[in-house]
Amino acid sequence: MITEVREITDGRSLHRRLAVPMGRDELSRLAETLNQMMTRLERSFVALRRFTADASHELKTPLTVVRAGVERAITRPEVPPETLAPLEETLQEVNRMTELLDALLTLARADEGRAELHREAVDLRDIIAEAGETGELLAEHAGVGMEIRLPPQPVVVSVDRSRVRQLALNLIENAVKYTPRGGQVSVELGSNDGRAVFTVADTGIGIAPGDLPNVFDRFWRADSARTRTSERAGTGLGLAICKWIAEAHGGTIEVQSRPGRGTTFTVGLPHG
Ligand SMILES: Nc1ncnc2c1ncn2[C@@H]1O[C@H](COP(=O)(O)OP(=O)(O)OP(=O)(O)O)[C@@H](O)[C@H]1O
Ligand SMILES: [Mg+2]
Repeated sequence: MITEVREITDGRSLHRRLAVPMGRDELSRLAETLNQMMTRLERSFVALRRFTADASHELKTPLTVVRAGVERAITRPEVPPETLAPLEETLQEVNRMTELLDALLTLARADEGRAELHREAVDLRDIIAEAGETGELLAEHAGVGMEIRLPPQPVVVSVDRSRVRQLALNLIENAVKYTPRGGQVSVELGSNDGRAVFTVADTGIGIAPGDLPNVFDRFWRADSARTRTSERAGTGLGLAICKWIAEAHGGTIEVQSRPGRGTTFTVGLPHG
């Protein structure tokens, strides 16, 4: 019974229930109580996901209105300079909030099993090259070198093009963001064991060994208090989304890192 309870409460199979032994002894009453508890837990998980999805969705519309208003105000020729600065700051924050809401909505939909993948056969080289181009602009701006290595032959996979682009872009953005000026980011695509494999490696600040198990957690950021407002601003949802995208495609995502030396993220995607 203990193994069964553990399997059910790992979060993925909360819909399962224990088989209640016949009779009215302690054990069968315990099983019944546990089942009732799991029903309540399951309901509150569902409610929580619903709430996150609804709240993010509801907040998007007013935020779009705010953004449109600020954008309109900012472009008026008669805006005095002392008003322009706070307007620009507001716009930046509004954009950050929009990104945050999009990320929350994606994860809430994924939790509910409502995030659909629009799979099609694509050559991964195109997606990585596209994400790499954006990465090159970011890298140039940050004074970081960037290298993209693609194989000569097509790497065909059946994936949701925009989701995989988002995955590649998130990893590349992180690599640039967490690598000081003068460092190097290398993106490589290949095949291994019948899977497409792409890696994003950097020579940046790295991640402490004790922090590695947390990097894919929602809202987790190393040293979050310090980096909240700096140029390394972020919400800590990027890697949670990467993990969801990789796993939703039947793939994997792994990280290796040495503090002060650099970090490598490896994504494996099945060809099917
Ligand atoms: N390449 C990297 N090198 C060093 N640390 C990294 C790297 N990628 C991620 N991290 C650490 O993992 C944390 C989580 O990354 P994640 O992408 O989820 O969030 P973020 O970049 O902080 O914000 P955002 O949601 O805007 O992406 C980061 O805050 C950082 O501490
Ligand atoms: Mg990130």
